[in-house]
Amino acid sequence: MQMNPLSSQYLGFSIASPIVVAACPLSTKLENLERMQDAGAGAVVLFSLFEEGRRNNGEPDSQYRVSSDDYLRLVDDASSKLNIPVIASLNGTNLDHLSQMTMLATNAGAHAVEYNPYHLPVDLTQSGRDIEEQLVELATEMRAICQKPMALKLMPTLSSPGNLALILDGIGVDGLVMFNRLYLPSVDTENMNIHQSVQLSRKEDSQWSIHWASLLYGKISSSIIGNSGIENAEQALQYLLSGASSVQVASCLIRNGIDYLKSLNQGLEDWMNHHECDDIQSLVGLLTEQRQADSHTLERLNYMKSLHNFQSPYFK
Ligand SMILES: Cc1cc2nc3c(=O)[nH]c(=O)nc-3n(C[C@H](O)[C@H](O)[C@H](O)COP(=O)(O)O)c2cc1C
Repeated sequence: MQMNPLSSQYLGFSIASPIVVAACPLSTKLENLERMQDAGAGAVVLFSLFEEGRRNNGEPDSQYRVSSDDYLRLVDDASSKLNIPVIASLNGTNLDHLSQMTMLATNAGAHAVEYNPYHLPVDLTQSGRDIEEQLVELATEMRAICQKPMALKLMPTLSSPGNLALILDGIGVDGLVMFNRLYLPSVDTENMNIHQSVQLSRKEDSQWSIHWASLLYGKISSSIIGNSGIENAEQALQYLLSGASSVQVASCLIRNGIDYLKSLNQGLEDWMNHHECDDIQSLVGLLTEQRQADSHTLERLNYMKSLHNFQSPYFK
């Protein structure tokens, strides 16, 4: 029997492709989830259930924010109809709400839970240590409650993502999604206001996450799940070669449609054929050794080299 060259691992599940659909509104409909499976998604993370929904008495306040009952119905339908892992996404930091929803979502059939605390440190009195301690508390509590595999979606603004990753790994978090994308307000100088809108990512947005995948590869047993800025198979490969065992995609599917999953998988296979690589596992982390050899010195050297090599006609 011929092995599927793309077969991968995700939070302990064997999946047919390392490309996983990230939490986003494409997953609000069961028919879309079925199309994701048909197009070759390894797994799907459902859009988030926001803790704010509960504060609104569970009433949906937009097409995107649904009541917990509707969310659980979708979890139930999707997990019973699909053959790929269906992961519930719980968004917020309220431990009571997260605990309750974890139990309900896993009882409804979610194969795993992804927690997204999306917390921006805007409180000037809160220290970096406070923020990290809160995350550790959240992970510890959810680990005790969640009977299924769990992933944590981290913010890119942490002061020491590597150290926190070691701690979360020690707690038994099965996967670290690196990283949340920041949605920050823009200043409109014409209309004199500030507005917030979602910008779809571009490949430049992948560098920070790829950097951390390569620094953590081999240092933790939690899966490193690359997230942000995958426009095509090339960036997915950059993540995998740097140490992520799988990647999540949202923007490229919103931009090109769900069937774009097929070209991502095809791109991976083409590259593997070209490089005579039989299975995806053998390429994960291939390019990390050099980076990890002496991370601190190397990062300083790369930093100086980049600055010194930068050219502009105005430098002459
Ligand atoms: C329109 C839109 C809605 C999103 N909704 C959620 C969400 O509900 N929960 C969540 O954890 N992330 C959400 N995300 C973030 C994505 O899951 C993903 O982390 C981010 O877009 C980076 O991946 P990308 O570069 O492939 O877009 C959303 C992203 C977009 C573009």
